[in-house]
Amino acid sequence: MKKGKVYIETYGCQMNVNDSEVMLSILQDAGYSRTEDIGEADVIIANTCSIRDNAEQRIWGRIDQFRLQKKKRENVIIGITGCMAERLKDKLLDSHVVDLVAGPDSYRDLPRMLNAVTPDNPQMNVLLSHEETYADIIPVRMDKNGVSAYISIMRGCNNVCSYCVVPYTRGAERSRDPKTIIREAEDLVRKGYKEVCLLGQNVDSYFWKDPETADNNVNFAQLLEAVAKIDPGLRVRFSTSHPKDISDEVIYTMAMYENICRHIHLPVQSGSNAMLEKMRRKYTREWYLERVRKIRSVIPDCGITTDVIAGFCGETEEDHKDTLSLMEEVGFDSAFMFQYSERPGTLAARKFEDDVPEDVKTRRLNEIIALQNRLSLQSNEREIGRTHKVLIEGVSKKNGDELFGRASNNKVCVFPAEGHRTGDYVNVKVTACTSATLIAKLI
Ligand code: SAH
Ligand code: SF4
Ligand code: F3S
Repeated sequence: MKKGKVYIETYGCQMNVNDSEVMLSILQDAGYSRTEDIGEADVIIANTCSIRDNAEQRIWGRIDQFRLQKKKRENVIIGITGCMAERLKDKLLDSHVVDLVAGPDSYRDLPRMLNAVTPDNPQMNVLLSHEETYADIIPVRMDKNGVSAYISIMRGCNNVCSYCVVPYTRGAERSRDPKTIIREAEDLVRKGYKEVCLLGQNVDSYFWKDPETADNNVNFAQLLEAVAKIDPGLRVRFSTSHPKDISDEVIYTMAMYENICRHIHLPVQSGSNAMLEKMRRKYTREWYLERVRKIRSVIPDCGITTDVIAGFCGETEEDHKDTLSLMEEVGFDSAFMFQYSERPGTLAARKFEDDVPEDVKTRRLNEIIALQNRLSLQSNEREIGRTHKVLIEGVSKKNGDELFGRASNNKVCVFPAEGHRTGDYVNVKVTACTSATLIAKLI
């Protein structure tokens, strides 16, 4: 059954990282082995992202480089999977470099497609499913540290944020059977993992409808609790929370279990009600601020991070200022910040004009980044003198005698190794910081 070596490179979000692990599991079962050296691969797969135009441009650049691999070894198979495969479909085959195109719900079909590929017979499967959750597949972990693993708890997205391509590339939302999620987490504990991160585009809308009895239905708060109860030594994280859906029940559940990390990634996108409405986010600035107050009243030390989009359609200087003032008011611990990028086929592309000039978008984004740098530094400075329990993730890249890991609130701490190892929990005291890192000593 030995088939050849497969090389996978991954772009985009954590869910795509986990999907690559699912693919690897399916391919290993079919007789393929993994290689980390593209030069010896029989199959090269790029698991791609479509979220912004620059993400796709980068992958087109990679496809050009794959052309060279093909010149050297004509039998090598080039596969494009993930969101760009789903969005562009046969347009990817026009490049005459790509032999296989597989959308996010077709990975079980990869072995068959790989068998069928010939130079004149490229393969494509971009069917989206209402059921597929890969629930029974045990992902082959590609990380090296063996400490922290992703678990996808749902797929797709039922929101239609007007700027966003994900509902088109990932299809309808579906939740995974909680029994299979628990089993996967238990298996990770047995393998020595210390942290799991539960993944979904909107984890708060996770809902398992039991086929037999409504008594066995499971919402996100209940799932979180069940995973937290597996082992007090297993840390539980999750991403992404949606401001319109995050419930008090989730917040109280976090407060109840020490091993559920005190961090919520709560993308706000904009501080302007006019923009939020146009983005179809289904909440207001006031609603968002109330959710933040609720989180902080129940979990005072909770890290709160966000995503922000600069220069959405029709954004005025006033709207932009609303974003800056909201960021200041919340005092986010960190943020991912982007310039709006129109995605073909989305509601915004069809209905609104992408009318904020490029230089204005860039200037606004730069102001947002500068503000966040200041907020991140302030947030880290507040940590000086505090103590944290840190899960060690590895050796510091800057100094081989130092280790790094994250505190419960998701902040990265660096401290002297002093005989500790990756996977250990240690208590540290913060002594100094930069805007990105806490510098600490062991206590
Ligand atoms: N499901 C998550 C977000 C997934 S996409 C949520 O609802 O919060 C990750 C981030 O990319 C988004 O939060 C948004 O800030 C950004 N993003 C999505 N589409 C974008 C676009 N067209 N242009 C710029 N940024 C975008
Ligand atoms: Fe995109 Fe909105 Fe779904 Fe997030 S919730 S994936 S931003 S449509
Ligand atoms: Fe990108 Fe698809 Fe994730 S578009 S961000 S890889 S869901």
